[in-house]
Amino acid sequence: MKVLVTGSAGQLGVAITRILGQDFEVVALRRTELDITDPDAVLQMARRVRPDVILNCAAYNDVDGAEDDPVTAMAVNGFAVRALATAARESAAVLVHYGTDFVFDGGVEEPYDELAVPAPMGVYGTSKLLGEWFACGAARHYVLRVESLFGGGAEAGDSDARRLGSTLDRMVDAMLAGRPVRGFTDRTVSPSYAPDVVLATRALLEADAPTGLYHCVNTGMATWFEVARFAAVSLQCESLLTPVTTDSVATRAPRPRFCALSNAKLATAGAVMPPWEDAVTRYLAARHDST
Ligand SMILES: NC(=O)c1ccc[n+]([C@@H]2O[C@H](COP(=O)([O-])OP(=O)(O)OC[C@H]3O[C@@H](n4cnc5c(N)ncnc54)[C@H](OP(=O)(O)O)[C@@H]3O)[C@@H](O)[C@H]2O)c1
Repeated sequence: MKVLVTGSAGQLGVAITRILGQDFEVVALRRTELDITDPDAVLQMARRVRPDVILNCAAYNDVDGAEDDPVTAMAVNGFAVRALATAARESAAVLVHYGTDFVFDGGVEEPYDELAVPAPMGVYGTSKLLGEWFACGAARHYVLRVESLFGGGAEAGDSDARRLGSTLDRMVDAMLAGRPVRGFTDRTVSPSYAPDVVLATRALLEADAPTGLYHCVNTGMATWFEVARFAAVSLQCESLLTPVTTDSVATRAPRPRFCALSNAKLATAGAVMPPWEDAVTRYLAARHDST
């Protein structure tokens, strides 16, 4: 299997390149090597590489920044996916695209499943929803919604990847350095451990699972405070952690408060995601081993 990875320097891109690279031919492309907002470049690259699978890890993930720069957010997260879907169709490749829980407004009390109607609260969520729709333009496509992604570079000891975008990575960095950490008690999530997302992606591809939308998160749900406390207890630094509520922090973009996702459909397709506690435990062990 030949795999073309876009946005390969990002958190998920690093994990995908490392893990799938052990068994498959992976052509990993950073933004400087392929800007996905350039439709001609995307098409030319697909013609040159002739991939079996295009894995789109490129994204504009600055949730607050997207409110100020909606054009870039829509270009990268939305319209670029149309070009990737076109390239996938032309090269008879499978397109795997990653979505987000931010397509929901959090106004529920039970985990969202794939049939739940999206209602994004800001530009970022809207742009990602547009990308989901464009991904469907590929004859064979998987749209995998991930959430609160963490651990993309930890096992490789990749400090650059660790710095990227991950709330839990930054919390653990701070705790290990003895700095105080705050965790939201009123934001509920189902975190996604990057290596587990990669294995689920691989399982879907190898099983030739039905194409479409899947929630690709670790099993279970917790508030950010509970996730942080679990890590803090493991690291024996619980005293560094303070519970706070989201209204204590001003952000430009509104955020959904309850965004647990059900991964039952993914499990039915053959990719069973371990509980988030198990994922955090493996993540901390991997970080420990890599230092
Ligand atoms: N991180 C999370 O908590 C989270 C939550 C929900 C969903 N997701 C989704 O999961 C996927 C992977 O996220 P991630 O955390 O791995 O993202 P990330 O660490 O922010 O990496 C995104 C990568 O995309 C690259 N990129 C940006 N614009 C590009 C363009 N025009 N052309 C090519 N590459 C471009 C970035 O390059 P530069 O480094 O040069 O900017 C970066 O390397 C994304 O679809 C994201 O929306 C992530």
